[in-house]
Amino acid sequence: MTATTTPVKHEVKDISLAPLGKQRIDWAGREMPVLHLIRDRFAKEKPFAGIRITACCHVTTETAHLAITLKAGGADAVLIASNPLSTQDDVAASLVADHGIPVFAIKGEDNETYHRHVEIALDHKPNIIIDDGSDVTAGLVQHRKDQLSDIIGTTEETTTGIVRLAAMFKDGVLSFPAMNVNDAETKHFFDNRYGTGQSTLDGIIRATNVLLAGKTVVVAGYGWCGKGTALRARGLGANVIVTEINPVRALEATMDGFRVMPMEEAVRYGDLYVTVTGNKHVIRREHFENMKDGAIVCNSGHFDIEIDLKGLGEMASEKRTVRPFTEQYKLQSGKSVIVLGEGRLINLAAAEGHPSAVMDMSFANQALACEYLVKNKGKLEPAVHSIPEDIDQEIASLKLKAMGIHMDALTPEQVKYINSWTSGT
Ligand code: ADE
Repeated sequence: MTATTTPVKHEVKDISLAPLGKQRIDWAGREMPVLHLIRDRFAKEKPFAGIRITACCHVTTETAHLAITLKAGGADAVLIASNPLSTQDDVAASLVADHGIPVFAIKGEDNETYHRHVEIALDHKPNIIIDDGSDVTAGLVQHRKDQLSDIIGTTEETTTGIVRLAAMFKDGVLSFPAMNVNDAETKHFFDNRYGTGQSTLDGIIRATNVLLAGKTVVVAGYGWCGKGTALRARGLGANVIVTEINPVRALEATMDGFRVMPMEEAVRYGDLYVTVTGNKHVIRREHFENMKDGAIVCNSGHFDIEIDLKGLGEMASEKRTVRPFTEQYKLQSGKSVIVLGEGRLINLAAAEGHPSAVMDMSFANQALACEYLVKNKGKLEPAVHSIPEDIDQEIASLKLKAMGIHMDALTPEQVKYINSWTSGT
């Protein structure tokens, strides 16, 4: 599995896949103009000279552009997968062979290999960690305390990771600054909503080829990812039901035109279920028992905990793979339940993750957050920090420019008006 023809250390599936990876990385680059501008500047300014960066991300064509950008900026960067099923093996090969970036990621790696790669990522003795789900940061805090003095900070990509960082802060173990990329407006408005929306449906369709028009789709969770998934499922003609535990979101879903009800009730109607809550066992035994025969269940939340697969396994008399990423569980009752992508992120397991056009902004935030950490080394409190508004605005402006879209500007009279409180009616 490990080729020895290239000088950098790596663990990828097959290094000979590099030409295909290169071709696909180039294709993704067409839709990533903002990150390209940042890369060109980094190549001149070298903000990461002498800085070791460990990135734990889904190893996709888009992540390749982030890794190449960090390297252009002078970073000594290493990349590992943030999920055992999300690696694009050709991309991993190309990063090693064509860019000399050490990558430790193999699609389908078992949990033991995944955790070994996390340790390799920590062995790199990072000054900055780019995390997607906070596994490397959690590893550092838990058992690499001797390395804490090397750390300038971390940046976190996803909602789940931000929740974990907040818990680390509450427990008093976050001794360095963490940049909250997820909550930047140019990240979650687009990546979480439109990226998850499109790629989740893409993964479901690639795995099953089911027609969504006329089906009842149950979306568990109405955060940004749930909103995007519900919106796109409706766009394909599905009747969408939303389940929620937060009253404001439940109200929002209702006024967005979706039916809202508890999962217990939704199981009577659903043909297809998507979990995007960030919490565990959102679909469990009592739900499987009452689902329609042949119901399809999948997850697009970060971890594979949202569907109680252990419980389902115990209820089943037989389990068989009926298509790639598609497993049928025959229940003792005679009904069957279909699970996609082993309950892991279906958009990355069965499809290619979010499209490049949204990852352009997410990874522009990552790159600029790393630069911000370096520029402010030693000045930021150990806490979770928002991405500064000027970075968010700059990314949106660059994206609009690249898309050829022009906006209005305030007149001097309008500037004066919004800055004063004296003129009312
Ligand atoms: N997360 C979701 N989609 C992704 C992609 N295409 N690349 C990296 N991380 C992702």
